Amino acid sequence: MKKDFLWGGALAAHQFEGGWNAGGKGPNVIDVMTAGAHGVARENTGTIDPNKYYPNHEAIDFYHRYKEDIALFAEMGLKCLRTSISWTRIFPNGDEETPNEEGLKFYDAVFDELLAHGIEPVITLSHFEMPLHLANQYGGFRSRKVVDYFVKFSEVCFNRYQDKVKYWMTFNEINNQMDTNNPIFLWTNSGVTVKPGENPTEVMYQVAHHELLASAKAVIIGKKINPDFEIGCMISHVPIYPYSCDPKDVMAAEEAMHQRFFFSDVHVRGYYPSYALKEFEREGYTIGIEEGDLAILKEGTVDYVGFSYYMSTVVKTDVTNDNLGNVVNGGLSNAVTNPYIETSDWGWAIDPEGLRYTMNRLYDRYQLPLFIVENGFGAVDTLDENGQIHDPERIDYLTKHIKAMQKAVDYDGVDLMGYTPWGIIDLVSFTTGEMKKRYGMIYVDRDNEGNGSLDRSKKDSFEWYKKVIASNGTDL
Ligand code: BG6
Repeated sequence: MKKDFLWGGALAAHQFEGGWNAGGKGPNVIDVMTAGAHGVARENTGTIDPNKYYPNHEAIDFYHRYKEDIALFAEMGLKCLRTSISWTRIFPNGDEETPNEEGLKFYDAVFDELLAHGIEPVITLSHFEMPLHLANQYGGFRSRKVVDYFVKFSEVCFNRYQDKVKYWMTFNEINNQMDTNNPIFLWTNSGVTVKPGENPTEVMYQVAHHELLASAKAVIIGKKINPDFEIGCMISHVPIYPYSCDPKDVMAAEEAMHQRFFFSDVHVRGYYPSYALKEFEREGYTIGIEEGDLAILKEGTVDYVGFSYYMSTVVKTDVTNDNLGNVVNGGLSNAVTNPYIETSDWGWAIDPEGLRYTMNRLYDRYQLPLFIVENGFGAVDTLDENGQIHDPERIDYLTKHIKAMQKAVDYDGVDLMGYTPWGIIDLVSFTTGEMKKRYGMIYVDRDNEGNGSLDRSKKDSFEWYKKVIASNGTDL
């Protein structure tokens, strides 16, 4: 890999910081979500119910242990750490005039600590952490006022951390909300719940317009504050394969891929793709786009494409129910299981080749640098009699994905900025709220019910990844 390749790890504030009401922080949209399990949805309780358990409130308590954790990240040799700034530490309700100084100081301390260890912060502005107040009082990104509040929050962060942070992303996995069948996505992406009688897809596109506008405005402001900033988008990329070479299956996959590309097409190209405009027309969607919006989208395009890659999926034209798959991400009605691919305990397809395929498709389409900002294996870890964790499956998953990534770079010529595997330290799962779905190379003693010492220990993958980074990816 190139000399300055950003080997790192990825996290999100709400999943690991804890300190949910410390330092003046206000509640966000995840703070009202209970824990679920594989196949059991998390409950959105709307407000905080003192009788319920909310796993993100304390999470793994990085808020109070950040020095110890960053020392471990440094020992592993991370060149960068991708995390988010929790919006409600800075604006507890989202619509205040002035930011919360204590929240700003917390990130000063974290970024200083990272930089002192030679770790570059890579920052997502919004990783499912919208202020609850903005969701409840304004309907989240239904409202154009929330566009302004997000832009203000971004501007405050850009100004404050302009000498500490160079790499930014606006919205994490902004395209999750394409799946309107599962309410968690519109809620966590945008603070939106669909009302009876509404067409969820039409609501989603309206909200998407506001978010794409907010992202473009933030990019424009960010580049004025510091022209050296690199500001990217972040999409969840789950490639969709045709089930067979039947041209109908091929076309079904191609059409479904529009769902994957919609957000990045606008972020990168600065205009709505023709297939989306035709869909609005065909379905009779009225999307409120005001004068000047399109010019902003055009001006505020991103510098790079950040994406997560965990799995692939398959669509089939003639779904006869014989092999109907368990689609975790995408909500496609014609998705089926892939007979060539194994899945994790949570039903996620393990497909390293799909990473190379994804990198080629994204790079061919956009010709912008790519950044793999999430990839990883969620699994149950068991302590042996000596309290050690051996995680060969995780090492195997990551090795195969790194090899596929290297092939895309060395053989196909894709321009790649870095690789930050997800959940470098165990943290709360986003979709299920569980602790037992672990991604980390550092184990955290904490269970699904919130029991445990929160002590940290190294898994086998810790030493393995340290060696990978030290050898710049040659010793796998
Ligand atoms: C992505 C998110 O969807 O995948 C992360 O950006 C999330 O927030 C990760 O944690 C893995 O998903 P999960 O549900 O296994 O935690």
